[in-house]
Amino acid sequence: MALSPADRLREIQPFHVMALLSRAKELEAQGRDIVHMEIGEPDFPTPEPILAAAEGALRKRLMHYTPALGLPGLREAISRHYRNRYGVDVSSKRIVVTTGGSGALLLALGALVNPGQEVLVTDPGYPCNRNFVQFVGGVPCAVPVTAATNYQLTPELVERHWTSRSAAVMLASPSNPTGTVMAQDGLRDVLSWISRQGGAVIVDEIYHGLVYGTHIPTALQFSDDVFVVNSFSKYFQMTGWRLGWLVVPEAFVPHIDKLAQNLFLAAPTPAQYAALSAFDSATIAILEQRRAEFQRRRDFLVPELQKLGFQIPVIPDGAFYVYANSAALAPDSFELTRRILEEAGVAFTPGIDFGKNAPEQHVRFAYTTSVARLQEGVQRLAAAL
Ligand SMILES: Cc1ncc(COP(=O)(O)O)c(C=O)c1O
Repeated sequence: MALSPADRLREIQPFHVMALLSRAKELEAQGRDIVHMEIGEPDFPTPEPILAAAEGALRKRLMHYTPALGLPGLREAISRHYRNRYGVDVSSKRIVVTTGGSGALLLALGALVNPGQEVLVTDPGYPCNRNFVQFVGGVPCAVPVTAATNYQLTPELVERHWTSRSAAVMLASPSNPTGTVMAQDGLRDVLSWISRQGGAVIVDEIYHGLVYGTHIPTALQFSDDVFVVNSFSKYFQMTGWRLGWLVVPEAFVPHIDKLAQNLFLAAPTPAQYAALSAFDSATIAILEQRRAEFQRRRDFLVPELQKLGFQIPVIPDGAFYVYANSAALAPDSFELTRRILEEAGVAFTPGIDFGKNAPEQHVRFAYTTSVARLQEGVQRLAAAL
């Protein structure tokens, strides 16, 4: 008899952008030049001081398991980071080092959601969120968000969609795919309202640090009763090292410890030693230069896309994404991204990857390539449109 996959896989969707990316690679293998604006990771290499720390750790043969909660020194360095950057005291005891923000999201949902319980997520939103909810047996409740609320949940939207079956709300600021940030008052009010309902809030802050012309607070400034996800992938530019962290309420530390021991044993050891240098002033100086470069790219790309006929009702304040309405240019954004890749050699992501809220009218551009390449992309788009 043929082996069949488990039922839970039925609801989990692959990323459409992966099919686009592999087609782009095929075209490149045939000698075509492709401008990549679909990739959700920084194009910069991991900063040198982090690489040097990793090399030092490997030379010292530091490669055995660490405690499941992470290297104590790294948990303390993250705690200092909260004090230095946000002026907030977060005990290192509450900080858990994870296998990327992905591992942190899975641990938080695994520790919070019972089978059949609902979790509020934004639509559009990061596609893994709804898949992770489903993986732990929960039911994602996709709340449509629009430009009117910066593509973010508001206290009103949360109250409207919260039911007796709800366990948690997932927020992300800055968000993927929209790059928008959540209003400070809204964040504070959602935290206090959900806490009064006995529910949990998971705030994904993995694009913190990549914010332009504004400073945003961490949810930890407003509450100790929150689950905050962060990562070394984006601001620290360590995607392939698979390292992130999760801050949990103190009472949850033993639960998360138990779950982390069983699911992962520990985050990668060489990556943890490398990350000890991530908060050094020499590293931060490099990262801040790169942040300025991301801002230059955003400031170039947004008006150019608008001139081409894409509507961008909210100028993104962070991450490296522009979420644009393409309805004036094509009725189906999936078809549009396919056609532009074939005809013009420009890759960007169709809205379908981010939910069911008018995906055919939206696309996401990632400015994870140089201004010169973005310029080339825009010229080719202009010709093809
Ligand atoms: C909003 C958001 N959360 C979490 C992740 C997971 O990233 P990582 O596991 O590399 O930290 C991503 C990756 O793109 C993301 O966009």
